[in-house]
Order: sequence, then structure tokens, then C-alpha cells
Amino acid sequence: MKKILLLLSLTSTMMFAVTGAELTKTNCASCHMLTTPTPDMIPTMKAPAMDAVMFHINLAMQDKKEIKDFIVDYVQYPKASKSVCESNKVQHFGVMPSLKGKVSEQDLASIAEHIMTNFPSSEFVTMIKEIQKNDKMNALMNSPFLINSEELPHLTKLLMLNWDKAKLGLTDDQKEKLLLVRHETLGAMKEIQEKVKVLEDEIIEFTVDDESFEKIYAKVEELAKLKVEATKVQLKCLKESMKILNDAQIEYLLPFWDA
Ligand code: HEC
Repeated sequence: MKKILLLLSLTSTMMFAVTGAELTKTNCASCHMLTTPTPDMIPTMKAPAMDAVMFHINLAMQDKKEIKDFIVDYVQYPKASKSVCESNKVQHFGVMPSLKGKVSEQDLASIAEHIMTNFPSSEFVTMIKEIQKNDKMNALMNSPFLINSEELPHLTKLLMLNWDKAKLGLTDDQKEKLLLVRHETLGAMKEIQEKVKVLEDEIIEFTVDDESFEKIYAKVEELAKLKVEATKVQLKCLKESMKILNDAQIEYLLPFWDA
């Protein structure tokens, strides 16, 4: 009799065993679309697409267990402060409503497994990379610098990020000198950037107003000179910072730098 009961309960759980894919469809798809979104869909979405959710989670965490625990927890106890999505997502959609009591922990575990293996789709990742590449191109085109931070190691930024790291081991004396270089560079760049902005506006205005080519050319030439100036300021900053740092520190900050 016991055997029959066991058999019965086994078959019934097997019969009713629902896959992670189905559970995700039933419990999450009403808000998180499960196909890759196209930009025109974004205004009508109730929540970020599952592709986007998992893309961001993967950026924030590496460990599989950590990701799974995060998903199981977030669905039951969502909170803006726990969110790893871009903060504007929470602002835009509002915090996700809790599904505690509506989905069992066990089902949530299957859902987590399913979405971790199937999202983001490679199509989505390609799309994001393409967008990021375009953003970088735009930044480069709009940048007042001939040598952009992409080409020139962004030494100042790297320094700030590693400022207090024991491994970098900046002395107080080095810090003082570096801050001075940074201060001078930022001051000079700010001045140039303001002039660049005025010139660019003037060039646009002149073009719209159909001013003479000579007049526009003169402005373009002025703009080019300013960009050269900005590049020189950046190079000077790089050179001076390098002088303050020792070889080991440079190697630590710029492991791919060929001095
Ligand atoms: C009623 C709509 C709704 C349902 C149903 C829903 N979600 Fe969400 N979810 C949201 C919204 C809105 C956000 C974005 C705001 C936020 O992050 O809290 C979100 C965000 C998330 C996040 C991202 C957390 C972060 O870092 O911001 C995860 C993970 C998530 N949902 C998982 C799920 C899973 C798994 C299911 C199904 C079990 C589910 N959601 C069902 C609305 C929903």
C-alpha cells in the first residue's frame, strides 16, 4: 500500500511538474517581456524586459549562487535599495510589486535557474554592444579633444579610482603634487571647453543663417586650434603625472602602457 501511495505521489508530482520556462511565463511575463525588445516597444513596457534584467544582474554579480539568491529574494522582497538595474529603471517603472505568497520558493528557484540560463539572449547582448559602440563614437565626435580618453589612458580617472589603494601606495607628497597637476589641468580644460562650446554654437548659427564661407571657415579654424590646445593640456597632464609616479605605480595603473 505504501508503495502504491509513493508511486501515486511520484506520478502526480511528475504529472504536475511544471518547467522553469512555463513558470516564468505564468508568473513573470505579464510584466517582463521574454522576447528581445525593439526600441519602439520600450514606451509601452511595464517593466524592463527579462533580457535587460539579467544583463544588469550579470554585470553586477558573477557568482551563480549569488545571482540565484538575489532573484529568489528580490521577487519576494523587492526594494529600490537592493536594485542592481540602473536607478532610472526603478524611477521609471516603480519598484516591482512583491510576489511573496503568490509564487513558492521552490518555483522561484526553478524560475531563477531558467532565466539565468536563457537570458540575456545573444541578440540582446549584440544590440547593447552596438548601442554602446555608437555612444562611444558620439562621445568621440563631440569631444573637444583630438586624443580622446579612449586613446589616451585616462590617467587622472585611474588615479582617483585607486587613490587610497595600499597596492598603489601613493605617498602624501605624491598626492599633493598630483592634486596640483589635476587642478591645473581641470582649470585649463574648463576654460577651453567653454570657448569650444561658444564657437560650436556660432558655427551652427552661421551655417543656419547662411553666412559667408570665409566667416564660417575662420571660426572652424579657431575651433581646430582650441582642440589642439586641449590635446596639449591633456598630454602635459599625462607627462607630469608620469613624472610623479614611480615605475611600479605606472605599471599598476597602466599595465598595457608601453613606455
Ligand atoms: C506586476 C509586474 C511584475 C511582475 C509580475 C514581475 N516583475 Fe520583476 N520587476 C517589475 C518591475 C516594474 C521591475 C523594475 C523595478 C525594480 O527593479 O524593482 C522589476 C524588476 C525585476 C528584477 C530586477 C531587480 C533589480 O535589480 O532592479 C528582477 C530580478 C525581477 N524583476 C524578477 C522577476 C521575476 C523572476 C518575476 C516572476 C517570478 C517577476 N520579476 C515578475 C515588475 C514585475
